[in-house]
Amino acid sequence: MESDAFRVLVELGKDDKKLVSLVEEVLRLAGAMDPRPFSIGREIVLKAATQLETAEKPVVATGLGGGRRFAEDVEARLEVVADPTGKLGTTGAFDDFLKYFRNRFEKMSGFFRARMDTRSAGTVADGKSGGQNGRARFICMVVEKREKPGRIILTVDDYEDEAVVLVGDQNPTLFQTARRIVRDQVIFLATKKGPREFLIAEEIVMPEIPERKPSRSPEEVYAVLISDTHIGSKVFLEDAFRRVLGWLKGEVGDPYQRDVADRVKYVLICGDLVDGIGVYPRQESDLAVQDIYEQYRLAGKYVGEIPEHMEVVLIPGNHDAVRQALPQPAISKDFAGPVYDARRIVSLGDPAEVRLHGVHFLLYHGTSLMDIASSVPGLDYQRPVEIMECQLRMRHLAPEYGKLTPIGPEAEDYLVVDRVPDVFQSGHIHVTGWGAYRGTTIVNSGAWQGQTDYQKRMGLEPAPGVLPVVNLKTLEVRPFNFLAGS
Ligand SMILES: [Fe+2]
Ligand SMILES: [Fe+2]
Repeated sequence: MESDAFRVLVELGKDDKKLVSLVEEVLRLAGAMDPRPFSIGREIVLKAATQLETAEKPVVATGLGGGRRFAEDVEARLEVVADPTGKLGTTGAFDDFLKYFRNRFEKMSGFFRARMDTRSAGTVADGKSGGQNGRARFICMVVEKREKPGRIILTVDDYEDEAVVLVGDQNPTLFQTARRIVRDQVIFLATKKGPREFLIAEEIVMPEIPERKPSRSPEEVYAVLISDTHIGSKVFLEDAFRRVLGWLKGEVGDPYQRDVADRVKYVLICGDLVDGIGVYPRQESDLAVQDIYEQYRLAGKYVGEIPEHMEVVLIPGNHDAVRQALPQPAISKDFAGPVYDARRIVSLGDPAEVRLHGVHFLLYHGTSLMDIASSVPGLDYQRPVEIMECQLRMRHLAPEYGKLTPIGPEAEDYLVVDRVPDVFQSGHIHVTGWGAYRGTTIVNSGAWQGQTDYQKRMGLEPAPGVLPVVNLKTLEVRPFNFLAGS
């Protein structure tokens, strides 16, 4: 038996009668495992205790032995890697847009120039002049995309020139890649000169993230991913959210769940903390609290209940009281004063990046997820992980300008995914999801709000009440359902 498993066994089996049945259950579980484990670990003891408890009596509301909790003795290791707060200041002038898109083009070109297969890139003009054998390879931005039966027509440009590129369906892989392209995205093309002024696409390369091994924490601590609490809404799931706080405090849960709670060091809140006011037409009828200050006062009360030894990171969403255009600065103290006063928080803009125990997190509320889902065939808001995977492949969080997501034309494009994250968190969609892409763990942290009348009218079905918990040592994601019993 491993030493920490033994410690848990002694704690849980304090009274003798319990110890015997617990040991028996541990042996039974270990014996039934395939393949048989070499040693008995903490997880097996906790699983056995959980099974005994659910078989015998309801969950007792005490922590493991009532002693100090694991994460209390672990020092926080939180670094802010990127935050747009304090760097934003566009007036929305025409010149700003020009500079913004130039910066995007430059940043994205950097990805292609760093890759072996796309390093030697020419220009759009090379493609049009015919080059060698009429072939050319270049980086370009997609100005327009039209899909016709059997072909896709892309209008692309770079700093100097514009061209029309045809993608036929003879090569199904190429055609599928083209279908997933959205406007204003930067891509790499290999083309052949066609008849008249057209270019014919032979290869399309997405910016992509490289396949790699993510960084992990040496210690087994956990991050809890929350978003879209929408405090102030009539359908804020207060009971379920109170259970989350009770669980974080070590008051609720079976032995396994309490052991996880004991190891939680970070709580990440990914926007839409409150429901806000005037976010969509007739929102008043969905609000229980009509006053934005009162909404943040209530939010402060909940945030203040998160145990002192945990670190809280907060970014805004489209319902929070900050500018709507992306990127958003941190929520100001003028509105959210009570949240800042409630406890120590690290309040950042949207998007932001932090390193927690060496694990690199990209936090983005997700305002553009619906835009991407509606532009790329085959995506569905009920499967948020696929949409987020698309963003990683595009290396951009909100490529399309002029859809529902407002984008501020800043001097630098902060929506480019400059650094490859180990964990990518979003919310906004109100459906929990988790998965992985090329070594990056993708999590959508769902919501703590039931279906609003507005969502009913729009035909949107949320799936709230499921809390994803990330083990920073393994990057495994465990969903905890807090809806049951409400
Ligand atoms: Fe939301
Ligand atoms: Fe949102």
